[in-house]
Amino acid sequence: GYRLWMKYDLLQNKSLRKAYQKQLTKWSVVGQSETSQIIRDELDYALSGLLGQSEPAGYRSANLVVVTGRLATRWIPDLGDELSKLGDEGYIIRQVEHNNKSVIVVTANTDIGALYGTFNLLRLVQTQTPLDAVDISSAPKTKVRVLNHWDNPDRHVERGFAGESIWDWHKLPHYKYQKYTDYARANASIGINGTVLNNVNADPIMLTPAYLEKVKALADLFRPYGLKVYLSIKFNSPATLGGLKNSDPLNPQVAKWWDKKIAEIYQLIPDFGGFLVKANSEGQPGPGDYGRTHAQGANMLADALKPHGGIVMWRAFVYANEKNEERSKQAYSEFKPLDGKFRENVMVQVKNGPIDFQPREPISPLFGATQETPMMMEFQITMEYLGFSTHFVYLGPMYEEVLKTDTYAKGKGSTVGKVVAGEVYDYPLTGMAGVSNIGSDRNWTGHIILQSNWYVFGRMAWDYNISAEQVAEEWTRMTLSNKSAVVKKVTEMMMLSHEATVNYMTPLGLHHIMGTGHHYGPAPWVDDLGRADWNPVYYHRATKGGIGFDRSPSGVNAVEQYFSPLKEQLADPKSTPEKYLLWFHHLPWDYKVKSSGRTLWDEIVHRYYLGVDQVAQISQSWDSLQGQIDPLQFKQVQMANTIHLKEAIWWRNACVLYFQTFSQRPIPPGLDKPQ
Ligand code: GCU
Repeated sequence: GYRLWMKYDLLQNKSLRKAYQKQLTKWSVVGQSETSQIIRDELDYALSGLLGQSEPAGYRSANLVVVTGRLATRWIPDLGDELSKLGDEGYIIRQVEHNNKSVIVVTANTDIGALYGTFNLLRLVQTQTPLDAVDISSAPKTKVRVLNHWDNPDRHVERGFAGESIWDWHKLPHYKYQKYTDYARANASIGINGTVLNNVNADPIMLTPAYLEKVKALADLFRPYGLKVYLSIKFNSPATLGGLKNSDPLNPQVAKWWDKKIAEIYQLIPDFGGFLVKANSEGQPGPGDYGRTHAQGANMLADALKPHGGIVMWRAFVYANEKNEERSKQAYSEFKPLDGKFRENVMVQVKNGPIDFQPREPISPLFGATQETPMMMEFQITMEYLGFSTHFVYLGPMYEEVLKTDTYAKGKGSTVGKVVAGEVYDYPLTGMAGVSNIGSDRNWTGHIILQSNWYVFGRMAWDYNISAEQVAEEWTRMTLSNKSAVVKKVTEMMMLSHEATVNYMTPLGLHHIMGTGHHYGPAPWVDDLGRADWNPVYYHRATKGGIGFDRSPSGVNAVEQYFSPLKEQLADPKSTPEKYLLWFHHLPWDYKVKSSGRTLWDEIVHRYYLGVDQVAQISQSWDSLQGQIDPLQFKQVQMANTIHLKEAIWWRNACVLYFQTFSQRPIPPGLDKPQ
């Protein structure tokens, strides 16, 4: 599993391999930069593997040329301003006739663009896509595409399930594992251009000179791959590290401390990306400690970063039990009034749903709510609430569902994807973050299939329009097999897997009913935590009368935060999509569910059982691949599937039996057989 989706094994389709050999074997990369050398190495490694042939050639005799900038007009005379429209990271891959022979040209404005183009070309070969008349122009739809590592200096990864942190702080800056370079390569191959190295619950030690040297070592390794380094900071660092009396953003001493610290960082890392900040959230310090707003806190940092070209990603994950408002509404209430108050180099980073990375949530109402302040997407790639790293869950469909949801912010078609990409409002900055699932496990993510979640995040951050199914298929081809029967089967399993998980964990809009603290397994019965808004019973609200959280106008009216007509649609159970039914409504057990005609109780039970059946189906389908894919990959996933099925049954039985104590209705006939 170490090679991820860059396996580059010999292509089995002989006729296609022959065609590629003719088109690609003799290649030339024009350029002298470190990145040009990386492109050379990658092409040589990949083509030797995929085609069994690779021959560096002079640009005159090459069939494949990678070239940057105006030089490309030698092969594409009518290039015009095509390139300039593609920005710093876009690229063109085009087959042209040059001196009476066919040449494939990869070109871009920058070497990094050329690297992205090269990886796209290799993807075409890996997925066996014919290159005749190839003509692709591509540019990212969001500017900042970052992984967020929730990694602590002691190498514990918060909500990480693939071993310890890959950053060995103890041995840095001198000892640089090959894994760091392969990490940068993998990110570049899917267009990820930034990495926040440390946990949002930040340890101030990261800003000390000794640690900044270590950060610099990583930044130097990552730079030629187009991967910028960012840090999470602790807001009260001026006091804890600098010995100041407080960390009040309006205290000139505090601003000065940050100015100096930031200058020190840029001295070491001239292209440092900036800061990610979790402030006044779950006990973290923040500007609120001094009666200041999030904007005042963010702007103080933004002003210090601005002269160096740095940015602030300020998280909107704020909620507090003391606030007299329901949790799902709080981020909007806090940040909506601050629209327009943030500096141009600030983005507000919002989790995809209003609570917290649940298996399924409706969209956060903040998407589309701010005309001037860019809302940056935060997806979770690691599977905190989704079975950690033993459940087979491809998150592509979930990301797609969120990105394609219409906010109606500026009328129909104002999808979340468009909002995030700055196509609804013309944001000066745009971005998507993914909370990483990477650790020191040999296969990176603890489970082969979960590599696809890192992969799909990168692909969707580049282009929010791409479909989860297309990505599943290409990832399967690159990682497991190009045999069409295998590709079809695995793609089907992947596309089913998220819905299956929602079914056996939290069907019909149920949420936050997991085990306390570790967030693993079911615990809908917990009602004794110090804070009401941490108790599962607070969220499902099951009684003898019914189940669900009334967030409609008759309840806490969270729907008011959405635009019309979404607001009205969600206000009425009849028009609320069933997948969100119990998120927005408290309904009687005998409520008739439209799609099936079943009672609500029967439908809930039915979905829990369906989820388990779907996991069993995935598991059986996987078993049928024996002998058709790499035996180690096969075995790893098979072993995990055993755990997955067992735990799906655990979830189902626990939830159904617990909710039955309220519904006092029987398990519907046909489902009451033991499994
Ligand atoms: C969740 C998660 C925490 C994390 C927090 C965050 O609450 O359980 O571990 O720190 O989200 O996103 O900040």
